[in-house]
Amino acid sequence: MADEGHVVLIHAFPLGARLWRPQRVAPLPRRKLLTPDLPGFGASTEPPARSVEDMARAVLAELDAAGVRRAVIGGLSMGGYVTLALYRLAPERFAGMVLADTRATADSDQQREGRRRMIATARDRGPSAVADEMLPKLLGETSQRERPELAREVRDMIEENRGETIAAALEAMMGRPDSTPLLAAIAVPTLVICGDEDTLTPPSDSEALHRGIAGSRLVVLSGAGHLSSLEAPQAFSDALASFLATIPGSSAD
Ligand code: MLT
Repeated sequence: MADEGHVVLIHAFPLGARLWRPQRVAPLPRRKLLTPDLPGFGASTEPPARSVEDMARAVLAELDAAGVRRAVIGGLSMGGYVTLALYRLAPERFAGMVLADTRATADSDQQREGRRRMIATARDRGPSAVADEMLPKLLGETSQRERPELAREVRDMIEENRGETIAAALEAMMGRPDSTPLLAAIAVPTLVICGDEDTLTPPSDSEALHRGIAGSRLVVLSGAGHLSSLEAPQAFSDALASFLATIPGSSAD
């Protein structure tokens, strides 16, 4: 059967496209999957982006380079912030949207204070110190208890990045706008998905996205934390495939 278009999945902070390993090894029916590394992350040799909007522009440039005019576009956490920024820039590129373990709101003062401390950690003590701090928050309690190999994999992804890339992404996230007013303008089929053990962007954040985006579908995955696509890979991919089956194929040029 012919391909029905592209799905673009944007990774979380402070990881890289390897976050989507389970989705990359088990292809989605009749879709081509693109998993870009944001500038400076993973295998990218680009200088880090200074704003979430610049990250979105970088993804747009990758779509242009791949000749992809419209796609189902989504991301997890920071990847969700980038997805919302991309919709603000170019809604016509979306055949559908996926918002995983993310939120619409901007940072609170308290969150910005935490980011400033982590910027200092990234610059002074490097990615492995960031991993020490982030790992217990990224993985849910079930993964931490039952899947020690996941912690090693996530640590490895974090340590692959430079401290300066991590610091720049923290600055970018601190400066992102509140996307809540955008939600009512989202006019494409949207899947909102999260882990029920996510403490960084808890299910209440996903419920707010679901309430704000007319006609959106909400899926909460049990036994998964913030990195739901990695922690509950089969359930995540099944939810994605069943969402994709409900929307017309996105066009690939
Ligand atoms: C992420 O997973 O991308 C980050 O936790 C997002 C954030 O820190 O706001």
